Amino acid sequence: MRTTRKVSVWPVGLVGGRRYERPLVENGKVVGWYTGWRADRPFAIDMAGFAVSLQVILSNPKAVFKRRGSQPGMQESDFLKQITTVEELEPKANNCTKVLIALVRRGSACAY
Ligand SMILES: *[C@@H]1O[C@H](CO)[C@@H](O)[C@H](O)[C@H]1NC(C)=O
Repeated sequence: MRTTRKVSVWPVGLVGGRRYERPLVENGKVVGWYTGWRADRPFAIDMAGFAVSLQVILSNPKAVFKRRGSQPGMQESDFLKQITTVEELEPKANNCTKVLIALVRRGSACAY
């Protein structure tokens, strides 16, 4: 997370109807999503699975993370598509091959 330049992503355990879900990475770039739920989401990722640099937040003052008004499960996609593209994402956790974080309950993550 500390090395995030713009927006970084990593796998999350115990979410999306699977033991884990993760960004699929090829040649160091995110090319898709492994998830048990709505893989068609533009960013099929849980809140616990990404970090955004403060610089990106400050330079996108109109970007909002909607607590209401997004379809269920679309909050992450609705937010991320305002500030980045899938191509730009920076895979962490060894090209997203390591599950270092798990969702314990909704809204609460646990990092190892
Ligand atoms: C991730 O993949 C890229 C391209 O295959 C490779 O150059 C890089 O060393 C990998 N990074 C890690 C941390 O394994």
